[in-house]
Amino acid sequence: MHKIAVIPGDGTGPEVIREGLKVLEAVSKIANFEYETKTFDFSGERYLKTGKLLENEDIEEVKGYSAIYLGAVGHPDVQPGILEQGVLLKLRFSLDEYINLRPVRLYAGVQTPLKNKTFKDIDFVVVRENSEGLYTGKGSFSNKGTKDEVAIQESINTRKGVERCIRYAFEFCKQRNKRKKLTLCGKTNVLTYAWDLWQRVFNEIAKEYPDIETDYNHVDALCMWMIRNPEWFDVIVTDNMFGDIITDLGAIIQGGMGIAAGGNINPHGLSMFEPIGGSAPKYTGKNTINPLAAISALQMLLASLKEEKAADLVEKGVIATAQKLESLSAGRMGYSTQEVGDLVVEAME
Ligand code: IPM
Ligand code: MG
Repeated sequence: MHKIAVIPGDGTGPEVIREGLKVLEAVSKIANFEYETKTFDFSGERYLKTGKLLENEDIEEVKGYSAIYLGAVGHPDVQPGILEQGVLLKLRFSLDEYINLRPVRLYAGVQTPLKNKTFKDIDFVVVRENSEGLYTGKGSFSNKGTKDEVAIQESINTRKGVERCIRYAFEFCKQRNKRKKLTLCGKTNVLTYAWDLWQRVFNEIAKEYPDIETDYNHVDALCMWMIRNPEWFDVIVTDNMFGDIITDLGAIIQGGMGIAAGGNINPHGLSMFEPIGGSAPKYTGKNTINPLAAISALQMLLASLKEEKAADLVEKGVIATAQKLESLSAGRMGYSTQEVGDLVVEAME
């Protein structure tokens, strides 16, 4: 019995998660597996009402589950940073979900803004380090508020952290078994401490994987190649900050935030799956947000639970549905959020 912790969160999170759970129920019957869910109200809403972010007992409670299904965390009435650090990053960090796995795949029949590119050209995965780098919140102000102010934001790169991420990426690339090419995305020409470490570890581990072709791109150049020659990429490994940036770019070339999903992976523990688009306050409650990203996140969740058949069915449902929509963008799909969920269920049955 799979135990799934559901965190609908804020904004459009609950609307898209509702559709994901509808698909989960349907696919569990077809693929014949059992599960139970419990909903947790970690969110900006709860914070505004109670002052609670993510408490230690919250973390202890979710640790009893086999996977987490997250909608979105972010509230327009809460100052930026508070919920991100206090809920989302706290979940990622305290569960040691050190990989953020973000597939960038353009499905057949889906529009990409890239001229002359098709689904044959856009199919790669970003392995983003998810526990270190600029995201640890380390740094300081001096002379705050004066004209001599200095703000320092530190990027923490530990040998162990870098190594486990790069090792995961090589192994993932091998298992994926497509082009068997791993690209390191960094900035060795300027960030000469962090990327020296990354490059050394990358070169070392590469020796253990002679079948995998390796490449290196500076992050700025990689952004350019992602647009001009996305077919060059198979798996990209990078740090937390660069991974954050290039996966928004990736989302757009795969058809938009409406379809982009990711997994916060602890390969030996509890992982959390989410649409990467955020809480989209503008669309909240309108029944117009695209739930396909959340449904794709469910697909990743099912695969992580080794429900491969169910994951494949969900993916087929997403592909079939994506082709029916006028656009993948919120409000322009030609269908409501709930109708899109229904289309996925129909396509699976
Ligand atoms: C993401 C988001 C988060 C991040 C924010 C909301 C903290 O942009 O999941 O990519 O930067 O990791
Ligand atoms: Mg982001």
